[in-house]
Amino acid sequence: MILTGCVNVNGEQAVEEATPKAIPPISISRGINLGNWLEAPEPGDWGVMIEPRHFSAIREAGFDSVRIPVRFSAHASAHPPYTLDPIFMDIVDEAIQQGLQNGLYVILDFHHYEEIMQAPQEQAERFLAIWRQLAERYHEADDNLYFELLNEPHGRMDDGCWNDLLAKAIGEIRVSNPERWIIVGGVDFNHIDALDEIVLLEDERIIATFHFYEPFKFSHQGASWVENAAQWSGVQWTGSEEEKQAIETVLDEATQWSRLHGMPWLMGEFGVIAKADETSRQRWSAFMADQARQRGIAWIYWDICGEFQVMDCGTGKWDQSLLGALMGGR
Ligand code: GLC
Repeated sequence: MILTGCVNVNGEQAVEEATPKAIPPISISRGINLGNWLEAPEPGDWGVMIEPRHFSAIREAGFDSVRIPVRFSAHASAHPPYTLDPIFMDIVDEAIQQGLQNGLYVILDFHHYEEIMQAPQEQAERFLAIWRQLAERYHEADDNLYFELLNEPHGRMDDGCWNDLLAKAIGEIRVSNPERWIIVGGVDFNHIDALDEIVLLEDERIIATFHFYEPFKFSHQGASWVENAAQWSGVQWTGSEEEKQAIETVLDEATQWSRLHGMPWLMGEFGVIAKADETSRQRWSAFMADQARQRGIAWIYWDICGEFQVMDCGTGKWDQSLLGALMGGR
């Protein structure tokens, strides 16, 4: 393991254990990401505004959970005590309430903390202070509210930094929320292989997450935020044996990892940009959701009304074919 200046509190990586362990059951099974809303610099900046009607539509469509990506770092002061903006937090409160009132599990996800990816040590205190405030604010919230520590650690947030920070953040949260489910993914943008590098804690209420967008040139063709993605236009997913096998192998690895460590796991993001051809997109989404279902992997589609959309948030209309592909034999 390479460390770049961050202390790895727990020292060596957890030793591989041979015997599978019982996995605590989690209730989430299929959800949707409310992407491009509260993770934009300001709500609405990226054209997505989620309203109460969307939450009820999500529930009616058969989803049981929502993941709410929030850019808390854009709404907290830059200096101690790093106070969260009360006006912005009213919006977050309302979003959580809407989800819970509609009978949905709600994952509150700290998204797009770009500064910490560049300077993990300098930003650590601020990150922990933000989590302390969130934990205190929501300590009496329904158990169906889950916390997700940090979306897609990358850049200078390597394994050493991340293992150190995640242990401290969980410690902060546990002071006021001893039982709440906490979701943690590995580095390299929550890559599935990075789960192996997470130092596991003695905590029964942690869910491991990974993101899955393979083949990336297919899922992200034409994505404005990905370098060279314009060149990938027209990439299809035909559902050949080879293409399917590539996905099944990775999901089998995830299943093994979860069994080995006795930790529930979640595919917290997966999806295909709406620019891809419709048939390929539906085919891939149906296959992914089905393969996850077969292995008991909970999944959260990315996203509702952003670039990977399954709904037009203006009209409230679902893309019924894609929705059907995801829900399979509901
Ligand atoms: C990650 C990014 C988000 C992006 C999505 C799909 O969640 O944080 O901005 O839209 O992946 O690429």
